[in-house]
Amino acid sequence: MPAIKFYDHEPIPMEMHKVKIVQQLNLLPAEERLSKMRKAGFNTFKLHNGAIFMDMLTDSGVNAMSDKMLAGMMMPDDAYAGSESFYRMRAKLREIFGMKYCLPAHQGRACENILALRFVKPGSCVIMNYHFTTAKAHITRLGGRVEELVKDEGLVSNSDLPFKGDIDLDKLEACIEREGVENIAFMRLEAGTNLIGGQPVSVQNFKDACAIARKHGIISVLDASLLQDNLYFNKTREEKYKDVPIRTITREIADQFDIIYFSARKFGFARGGGIMIRDRELFHSMEDMVTMYEGFLTYGGMSVREMEAMTVGFDESMEMDVISQGPQFIQYCVDRLDEYGVPMITPGGGLGAHIDASRFVSHIPQSEYPAGALTCALYLCGGIRGMERGTLSEERNPDGSERFASMELVRLALPRRVFTLSQVEYVIDRVKWVYDHRHLIGGLRFIHEPATLRFFTGKLEATSDWPERLVAAYKEEFGDDQ
Ligand code: F0G
Repeated sequence: MPAIKFYDHEPIPMEMHKVKIVQQLNLLPAEERLSKMRKAGFNTFKLHNGAIFMDMLTDSGVNAMSDKMLAGMMMPDDAYAGSESFYRMRAKLREIFGMKYCLPAHQGRACENILALRFVKPGSCVIMNYHFTTAKAHITRLGGRVEELVKDEGLVSNSDLPFKGDIDLDKLEACIEREGVENIAFMRLEAGTNLIGGQPVSVQNFKDACAIARKHGIISVLDASLLQDNLYFNKTREEKYKDVPIRTITREIADQFDIIYFSARKFGFARGGGIMIRDRELFHSMEDMVTMYEGFLTYGGMSVREMEAMTVGFDESMEMDVISQGPQFIQYCVDRLDEYGVPMITPGGGLGAHIDASRFVSHIPQSEYPAGALTCALYLCGGIRGMERGTLSEERNPDGSERFASMELVRLALPRRVFTLSQVEYVIDRVKWVYDHRHLIGGLRFIHEPATLRFFTGKLEATSDWPERLVAAYKEEFGDDQ
């Protein structure tokens, strides 16, 4: 996405693609949204897509495909074993990451399962810049523990720090010293740190952290699911890389790691996943788990069509015009809301615009899930489906007490190439309205709480009649049919 100049005003984000296939949207009246929300147990994961106008839940598996990706899907090689589609995909990944061995898996968390089974024992510690929900769940299920060593400033909602996902190198050294190398299963660095607002990691930090891991003989793992956004920021925010091609930056990052895994629902814009491994022995030590849990080694639970699509998608992830669309739309959204006074995570990151719910609805205690409540309010007031990324997305402590998240965020994801700028304008408008009526929003409490990954399937209720009062105020402003 080049900075196209305008005659009359400052540049705005500009799509470098045109729309060829569309899906009709449906905007239900507010009253109907309220009844859908009640049925969904105040959990946006449980809403049916037909009831949603702007689906900003996630960028996972819902990015728009290109004509070339679709064309690739028309020419797959269907075979249980030895599919040429797999070999084409592996060749592309080898070219991009410079690692020889490739294990396919049906999505990112399947890779996390395999890595946890291979390396985690009861009592092991896994070092991370920050955890991701599914990565952590697999580790704790096996009796392991996660140490999050992101720089303190990564958790400050407003900052000028360009790389808030960076791991703190002093904390890293101290953690290795404290835990002992033999108790550390691996170090996992997440590009485009999801749960703290899609904040990127600098190439320099990847290099420094991996050098420390290497010195101590600790396996280094890159979660590359959000690498495409991270690469955009490496190029635009890291002076040393501004003239370096995306492919070269990618290789410089990849060269630091022993293992790279990804969700191809994000990286590659299709649906699948995979693990790249540098060392032959390590590769052989994990193959069985693919055949046991995923499928044969040349499909790993993926459809051959998706493998063809992602092979093209990986190439597109190396193009600046493609990878800058998401971050530029996000920055536009963040800037406009920030100017209005809506508490946003700044600077804007990848994946989506993140609202700081702890300041937006500061009157709701953390025990009543402020980010969850705000997520529901945005659906009621505009049919916008975001995702809670706060205490609801945490698991309880072993003693059953609530584990309060360090940040209470509502994520409005911008799946790549999906929405237009006028749709983003609509979202900005409705978020402003909700901000001006934030005193009407109240808390939530669980009525059905699963023990693991409760945010996916749990059911909640409002702590008062606030949803009814909020919808009444909304209808007064916009009429019955909006
Ligand atoms: N790692 C990161 C950084 C992710 O964001 C995700 C998924 C995964 C791993 C797991 O991949 O979904 O293919 O199993 N993130 C999605 C999201 C769910 O909405 O942020 P998966």
